[in-house]
Order: sequence, then structure tokens, then C-alpha cells
Amino acid sequence: MGMGTVVSLNGILVDPDEARVSIFDRGFLYGDSVYEVVRTYDGVPFMLEAHLARLESSAARIGMRLPVPLSTFAEEVHTVHAASGNPDSYIRIVSTRGSGPLGLDPGLAEHPTHIVVAMPLNPPAPSVYAEGAAVALVSVRRNLRDAIDPMAKTGNYLNSVMALAEAKKAGAYEAIMLDHRDYVTEGASSNIFAVLGDTILTPALDAGILEGITRSAVFSACQEGGLRVLELPLTEAALRSADEVFITSSIREIVPIVTVDGAPVGAGKPGPVYAQIRKLFDAFVARYVAERK
Ligand code: PDD
Repeated sequence: MGMGTVVSLNGILVDPDEARVSIFDRGFLYGDSVYEVVRTYDGVPFMLEAHLARLESSAARIGMRLPVPLSTFAEEVHTVHAASGNPDSYIRIVSTRGSGPLGLDPGLAEHPTHIVVAMPLNPPAPSVYAEGAAVALVSVRRNLRDAIDPMAKTGNYLNSVMALAEAKKAGAYEAIMLDHRDYVTEGASSNIFAVLGDTILTPALDAGILEGITRSAVFSACQEGGLRVLELPLTEAALRSADEVFITSSIREIVPIVTVDGAPVGAGKPGPVYAQIRKLFDAFVARYVAERK
């Protein structure tokens, strides 16, 4: 493992090369775990409270008890970042249901494992923001809410893994998934926004998506800037005819999308609404950080 990687395993700092979990751990066996990805700005973990609240709600959605209080996860986040020496870190939090005799029954789980890992932050290259990126509408459908609700950020990510594999094969940067009724849901690991005329749209939570923290931050930033974002069903046709499209996630922040399946979005370059929201978002982040420094 490289410099700047620090692992806290069940609350104890361990050498990343020596960090091991049981092969009987259900996180390994079934993706029976919950996780979060957080980044720091100027050493401040952005929206950590919201990430921890989502960790707890993901756990509740799959009937899992977190092994330590959220305040302990928060302390461990600060510990690994401080120990990393990174100017800014990518931080991953994972908590599993635990290990035990082989078998699906969650009642078999004991000894939950939780890890908090800091790694050097590796954001997209500046050209991604300047020139925009490509998405592919993939054939893989987003999980049904009644199957594995996308609102829960669990370690069971095969739906997104398969979607991204298909997008990469098509030369795209991110996959966009439809639901079973052909409505647009979200990316493999991002939320999506579309601008049609003077309307900024994003699918509502009932579309079967993760409630992205960056998505929420974009809502707040837009509200402060007097821009309205509507949570409405987004059809494939509307996405393909949008003037602007962008995706959001913690590490990538806001990435302008300039092609959908190879066809240009609007003018085929990052647009004015993206530029405006980018400024509002940067100001929102700066203020968040200043208030916590
Ligand atoms: N993924 N939708 C999905 C399916 C995601 O996995 C993610 C984030 C998002 C964006 O959420 P947020 O703004 O809270 O990061 C939306 C993280 C970054 C990951 O798995 O790496």
C-alpha cells in the first residue's frame, strides 16, 4: 500500500498490508455490509454528519445494527485522516453484519467488522471538468426498490459494477441506468441532473436512487443562489434532448456530461447552468469548511 493510506480496523490502527478480515465475514460472502465514501476539503470531512446519518439509515434498511455509535465512526474518520498526512483524503467507512457459521440467515452473524480507511484523494483530472465527460445509457436496470432499495448504500454493488462495465466497454466515463419502467434513475456511483430550457431536473428519491449527499449539497447551493431544482421523473427522451446534463458524487463533485451514447448534449460542451451551479457549489463547500476550521 502506498503512502497516505491508513486503516482503522475495529477501532485499531493497523498496517494496511496486514489489515485482514475473516473469510467468514458476510461482507465478503454476500456484500452484507453498509458503506460510505467521504472526502475532506482542507482536512475537513465534507458533510460527515449527513454521511454518518446515511450509514445508519442504510443499516436500518437492511436490519443491521452498527457495532459502534456514529460518534465513534466520526472519531475514527478524524484519526485516520490525521494519521495519513494527506492534505486531503478519500475516506471509506465500511461496517459488515459480521461472521459466523456459513448460511444466509442474518441471525447467524456475530463479530461485526468495521473499517475506516483514509487514502490520498485522487479527484478527476481538470480536463474532465473543462471538457466534460461521456455517459452511456446501459442495458442493466437499476435495482427495484422492492428488491434491493437503492436508498441503502450496501456493499452489494454488483448492479453498479455490471452497469459500469457496460459503460466502460462503450468508452464512457459513467453508466446511467433506467428503471424497469424506462425512467432514468442514476449513475453507477453518481446522481444525475438534466437542464431543459430554464428547468433544472433530477429524479426524485422515489425513482429508486441513492439520496446523494452531493445531490443534497447542490440543492442547498442552488437554493442559496436562487436557482430552483425540480425533483421530477426523467424520461430517456428528456435526457437525450437535454440542454445540459451533469452528474454528482462525493469525490467527483459535479461533472458536466457532454455526450449521451456518443450524441452531443446541447452544444457538446459544459454549459452555463453547470458553470453557475459549480460556482454556487464551490461557495457552499468553502463556507462549510470555514465554519469548521
Ligand atoms: N458513491 N448513487 C450511487 C449509486 C452512488 O454509489 C453514489 C456515491 C452516489 C452519489 O452519492 P454521494 O453524493 O453521497 O457521494 C449516487 C460513492 C462516491 C462511491 O461509491 O464511491
